Amino acid sequence: MEPLYVPINIDVAIRYHRFFDVRFFIKKRMGDMISIHQKAIFLEKTFKSYKAKGLREIWLLNEDYHRIVGELRHSLETKKDFRAAFHDINSIYSLSRNILLEHGFNKKVLEESRSLNIIAIKHILEVPDLASLMVNFKKENDAFFFRYIMQSYIINSMIKTFPWYSEQLMIKMGEACMLCDITLSESDFDHMERFPMDKWTKKQLHHPIEVAEMLRKYGKDISPDVIKVIEQHHEKPDGTGYPSGLTHSHFTLLSSIFQISAEVARKLENVDARTFDMDFLVQEIYQNNQKGVCRNASMALFSSLGLQL
Ligand SMILES: [Fe+2]
Repeated sequence: MEPLYVPINIDVAIRYHRFFDVRFFIKKRMGDMISIHQKAIFLEKTFKSYKAKGLREIWLLNEDYHRIVGELRHSLETKKDFRAAFHDINSIYSLSRNILLEHGFNKKVLEESRSLNIIAIKHILEVPDLASLMVNFKKENDAFFFRYIMQSYIINSMIKTFPWYSEQLMIKMGEACMLCDITLSESDFDHMERFPMDKWTKKQLHHPIEVAEMLRKYGKDISPDVIKVIEQHHEKPDGTGYPSGLTHSHFTLLSSIFQISAEVARKLENVDARTFDMDFLVQEIYQNNQKGVCRNASMALFSSLGLQL
């Protein structure tokens, strides 16, 4: 059987070169792998020269990858500079996402994403405001990751307005943000943005159900609340969402909070937060979420931004 190679971003490799005391590989243009083994003390220089030559990643054998990612995770836990930490979490997260898309769903990768989420959420809880998040992360991180941290931040602000807020719940909601679109690739997103719903593939249309089913199977300890949130993350209060066309009376409060936060995060993706008319967006969301739990969720958005009715 062909060994399974996993890429590591060259910047991460430079920053954490001391962990790479294993055989690593460089992919040649024809796809052949060249095997290299060097003492860790020489690696910083070597990796930097690779980067200068335009190399974007080195490759590891699957088992070494998981061991090194475990060590990186450990080191990230103690990292104080959240900007640097996020950058590295982003790199590792994108990698595990790619492995998942390429090689199918895998319990180990799922566990890696979940423990990265815990570290990321702890950093998010320290972010002072939305604008600083936008300024620090928009350009540097990939779109999936940016969406995830933005949405997590907004959810955190919303659920903080309730007396039952807890850090544990925030971690669960972050998990939902991180995993809800895990089966979709960049090109699925492009397609879904460009075409109306009736032109989507079955996989695209049913991704909320597909992800929920995989999590039931591989993530046995994932909370049913999180799975419900994922299942309902594209439904809308008036029944125009997908895949089931549910209406507000079927939603949990957490689902509604998730849907609203996703809408805000999406709207903020292509604007400058410092000049954006947030009041107008919030009014619009409030109008569309007037019934049942949706009303409580839109009120939470209102009060999280310090707005009054
Ligand atoms: Fe989705």
